[in-house]
Amino acid sequence: MSGEVVLEVEDLAVEFRSPHGVVPAVDGLSYTVTAGRTLAIVGESGCGKTVSSLAVMDLLGPTAKVTRGSIRFRGTELLGMRPKERRAVAGDHVAMVFQDALAALNPVHTVGYQLTESLRVRRGLSRADARRRAIELLDLVKVPRAVDRIRDHPHQFSGGMRQRVMIAAALAMDPEVLIADEPTTALDVTVQAQILRLLAEIQAERQMGLVLITHDLGVVATVADDVTVMYAGRAVEQATAGDMFAAPGHPYTRALLRAVPSLGGQAGEPDRGRRRLAVIPGRPPRPGEITTGCPFQPRCDAAIDVCATDDPPVVLLPGYRTSRCHVAREVMSVAAGRVDEAGAADE
Ligand SMILES: Nc1ncnc2c1ncn2[C@@H]1O[C@H](COP(=O)(O)OP(=O)(O)OP(=O)(O)O)[C@@H](O)[C@H]1O
Ligand code: SF4
Ligand SMILES: [Mg+2]
Repeated sequence: MSGEVVLEVEDLAVEFRSPHGVVPAVDGLSYTVTAGRTLAIVGESGCGKTVSSLAVMDLLGPTAKVTRGSIRFRGTELLGMRPKERRAVAGDHVAMVFQDALAALNPVHTVGYQLTESLRVRRGLSRADARRRAIELLDLVKVPRAVDRIRDHPHQFSGGMRQRVMIAAALAMDPEVLIADEPTTALDVTVQAQILRLLAEIQAERQMGLVLITHDLGVVATVADDVTVMYAGRAVEQATAGDMFAAPGHPYTRALLRAVPSLGGQAGEPDRGRRRLAVIPGRPPRPGEITTGCPFQPRCDAAIDVCATDDPPVVLLPGYRTSRCHVAREVMSVAAGRVDEAGAADE
C-alpha cells in the first residue's frame, strides 16, 4: 500500500577483499524505500551506488562482503539468512534493472526465453502461460509487436528497446521494490524521457517503491520524491527532492547543484535530460584511502578547522532531513535565506 515502508537499509558497510588489501566500498549507508514513492540515489562515480544495490539484491561476488548493517524487507532482516530463505522472503519482491542492459541480457537466448525462464522455474508456469505472460510484460513496457519480438535476440533491439526488455524482466515477478541502476544513461535524450515516463507510470500504477540510481540531477528534479546523496560510500544528505532543491543542507549537494542553476527550469527544454553532475574541483577519496575528519573536506568550500580532524555526525534538520556535516544547519539556513531573497527580489 502507498506510504508503507517496504525496504530499509541501515548502516550498511561492504568491503572488497583481495591479496592487495581491503577496500571499503560502502561505509554506513542508510535509506528507506516507501511504497508508491521514488527515491533517487545520486553521487559521483565510485561512491558505492551499484555495490550497495547489489548487496540489497544478495548479488555481491565472492570478493565482496557485507561487514555491518541491516537490510530489512517489510521488517524482516535479510542479512544472515541462508540464500534460499532470503530468496523466499525477498527474492520475488525486490528486483533490479542493471546498469549495463546489454551485458545483463544473455546474447544466445531469445528475449522471450529470458523473460519466461524465471516464470517457468520459480512460478511453475507452463510454456504457453509463460509465453502469454512474456507478451503481456513486453506490452506493459510498450515494446511494439510483442508477439513477434519475443522471438528476437537482444542484439536485434535498439538500446531503448533493450532497456524496456530489462524493465520487463525485472517486473516479471511483480516486485514491490524496483532498483533501477542508471536506466537511461546510455540512451539519447528523447529515449531517456520515454523510459523515465514509463518507469513513473508503472511505479504509480503498481504503487511500487522505486529506487532510481542516477548521475543526472535533471532526472532527480523530474521524477524523485526523495533523494539520498552519496559521497565516499555513505549518505551525506537525505531529504525530499523539493526540500533538497529549495535549500541543500550539505556543501556537497550545494556544489552539485551550483553548476546546474536552471534545474528548476522548463520541462521540455532540449537539454533538460543532459544535466550531469557538476564537475567539482578535486576528486573523491579512493576507497581505503586514509582520510581523517570529513571525507569531503579537501574539496569543501565551507570547511572549518574541526572538519580536518573529526568525522561529522548525522545532523537532523527540520522536515525529517539529515545532513552529515559539522555545519549542516548553517549551510541549510544560508541556502534557505538565498531562496527567500531571490523570491523577494522577484516580487
Ligand atoms: N569487484 C570490485 N573489486 C574491488 N573494488 C570494487 C569492485 N567493484 C566496485 N569496486 C569499488 O567499489 C566502489 C563503489 O563502486 P560502485 O560500482 O558501487 O560505484 P557507483 O557509485 O555505482 O559508480 P558509477 O556511477 O560509476 O556506476 C568503487 O570505488 C569501486 O572501485
Ligand atoms: S563537515 Fe566540514 S568539510 Fe565536511 S561537508 Fe561539512 S563543512 Fe564541509
Ligand atoms: Mg554504478
